[in-house]
Amino acid sequence: MKMFVVFVILVHVSQHVSAVDMYEGDQFVLMHCQFPTFDVDTLAVVWSRSDLSPSTVHQRQQEGDELKNQNQLYSGRTSMMPDALETGDLSLNLTELQLSDSGTYTCSVRNGFGFQQTVTDVQLQVKERFPSWAKVLLVLLVLLIVAGGLLVHFRHYFMSVYKVEVDSGVESVHLPCKTTVCLPVDAKVQWKNSEDKMIHVYQNGSDQPEEQFYLYKGRTEMKRNLLKTGDLSLTLKYPTDEERGACSCTVYSREGNILMKKVVMLQVKVTQVEVDSGVESVQLPCKTTVHLPEDVTVEWRLSSYTFKVHVYQNGSDQPEEQFYLYKGRTEMKRNLLKTGDLSLTLKYPTDWDKKTYTCTVYSREGNILMKKDVKLQVKERTQDKDETVDIRNRSSSTDPTPLMGYQSV
Ligand SMILES: *[C@@H]1O[C@H](CO)[C@@H](O)[C@H](O)[C@H]1NC(C)=O
Repeated sequence: MKMFVVFVILVHVSQHVSAVDMYEGDQFVLMHCQFPTFDVDTLAVVWSRSDLSPSTVHQRQQEGDELKNQNQLYSGRTSMMPDALETGDLSLNLTELQLSDSGTYTCSVRNGFGFQQTVTDVQLQVKERFPSWAKVLLVLLVLLIVAGGLLVHFRHYFMSVYKVEVDSGVESVHLPCKTTVCLPVDAKVQWKNSEDKMIHVYQNGSDQPEEQFYLYKGRTEMKRNLLKTGDLSLTLKYPTDEERGACSCTVYSREGNILMKKVVMLQVKVTQVEVDSGVESVQLPCKTTVHLPEDVTVEWRLSSYTFKVHVYQNGSDQPEEQFYLYKGRTEMKRNLLKTGDLSLTLKYPTDWDKKTYTCTVYSREGNILMKKDVKLQVKERTQDKDETVDIRNRSSSTDPTPLMGYQSV
C-alpha cells in the first residue's frame, strides 16, 4: 500500500508542471493540484515559493488553515476548498493578482511520518496589462507626432529658405524664384503669402489680377516670358510690415500637379520711434523721393485698423475724416508734396498711441504710390506723474513743435 502511494506521487511530479499566464489586477487564479488523499496519513498541504522567505504561501492541516508562517505578500489573498483534504482537490485560489505574484508555486503534501513530497509545480506569470514597452512606444509616438507637427509648422525656419529684408517704405521688393526645370506652356504660377492669400497668379500666358487678394492689386509684377526663362521672380511694390513672412512660389501643371515650389522669407524692417510718455509731440517719419502729383491723397492710419489718423487730400488736411481720438493732435508739414516729407507730428503721445502707423500715398485713381510703416514706442515715466497735461486744454496752434523723440531705424 505505502509503495503504491510513493509511486503515485512520482507520477504526479513528472506530469504536473503547468504554466499559467495572468494579468495584473485579475480577480483570481486557481492553481491546480490534485492528490489522492485516501492515504489517511496525509496531515498537511503546503503551497510555497522557494524564492521567498518565509516561503509559505498557504498551509492547510487537518484542523484547518494554518497561516502563522504565511508570507505577508499573500495575507488575505489565498484560499483552498474547505474539504480539500477529503476530496484531494488541493488547488489554491489566489486573488487580486499583482506583478510580484510571478514565480514558481510548489504544492506539497506532508504525511504522518514527517515526509514532505512535492505534488506539482505551477509557474505563474503575472503580466502588466499595459506593458512598459507599450508605454515607452506610446510616449515615443506622441513625441514623434508633436515633433512632426512642429517641424511642419516651422518648416520655413528649418528649410534653407531665401531671405529678403527691406526697410518699410521702399518702393518695391524683389522676391526671387528661378527654376532650371523646363516648364510646359500651360503651367500655372502662384505666389501666396504666409496666410495663403494670393499675391499673384500667372496662367495661360498672362497675369490673372482677378484672382489676387485685394490688398495686392496693382502692386505686383512678374517678368515677361517667365515660363521660357524660368525666372518666376515677383516684384512687390511698397511691402509693409503686415506682409512679412513666408511667401511661396508654386508652379502647377495643367492637371494640378506641383512641378516646383520655393519659399522666400520676406522681412520688412519697420522704422521705430521711441519717446517718453509726457513729451509734447513725436514725429513719425515718412519721406519719399518719388515725384508726387498735385492730386494725390496722403493717408496716415493705424495698420491693421481701418480708422484714419490723418488725411491730406486736394492740397489740404481733411480733419472730418479723422478718428475722434486724433482730432487736433496731428499735423503735417507745409508743402509736403514738393518736399516729399510726409512725416506726421503727433501731439501728447500716450500709452494708447503705442502702435504701428502706416503712411500711404494714393494716386487719384486709387493706386498706391508709396507705403511705409512706423512703429511708435511710448515709454512710461514712473515719476513726474503730476506733469501730465490735459490735451483738451492745450492750444493746438503752438509754433512748429520741436522733435522730442529720437528715431532709430
Ligand atoms: C476564488 O476566490 C474569489 C474570492 O473569494 C472568489 O470570488 C472566486 O470565485 C474563487 N474562485 C474559485 C474558482 O473558487
